[in-house]
Amino acid sequence: MIKKMTTMTLDSLKEKLKEWKGCELSKTANPVLGEGNPQAEIVFIGEAPGQKEDELGRPFVGAAGKFLDELLLSIGLKREDVYISNVVKYRPPGNRDPTPEEKEVCMPWLKMEIALIKPKIIVPLGRHALGHFFTKLSITNAHGKPQKLTDDITVFPIYHPAAALHNGGLRQTLLDDFKALKNFLDSRK
Ligand code: URA
Repeated sequence: MIKKMTTMTLDSLKEKLKEWKGCELSKTANPVLGEGNPQAEIVFIGEAPGQKEDELGRPFVGAAGKFLDELLLSIGLKREDVYISNVVKYRPPGNRDPTPEEKEVCMPWLKMEIALIKPKIIVPLGRHALGHFFTKLSITNAHGKPQKLTDDITVFPIYHPAAALHNGGLRQTLLDDFKALKNFLDSRK
């Protein structure tokens, strides 16, 4: 008997996430998988969806997302050029920090997204996403500096764009880190 082969794609992953009840947050929120170029060289990873993301089922479409779009444009990139996702796939109530358990149960989804896209560069936005890759690095010390994850993947940590909405001083730091990211991208050509 010939076994039917199913090919996993980002679209099928999105459909599967809709049925998944493995995270307690799925009782109170809508699923939000990543979006963007399935062949992106760079993947940006935030923490968890907020209110707007929960409403629209898309990552980074609220105030932090607007600033992320601006940061991307500052180095000549559009959302469609990259892939944007989150560690946690559901909005924590009241936008509280996701718990270690919520991050843990959602981890396979991000792993599958990365496995399908096979990016060369991963940009964790903020400490929650950075902690997914390096448990001992702090965002304060590591931001703006490339870190080798594997022979094929470099992690380039940057502060979360929302941090600059609360602390205006970080705005220039984020712009500078995006410039450093662009220099890093150019140096690889
Ligand atoms: N903050 C995040 O970390 N992710 C989003 O999708 C939106 C805001």
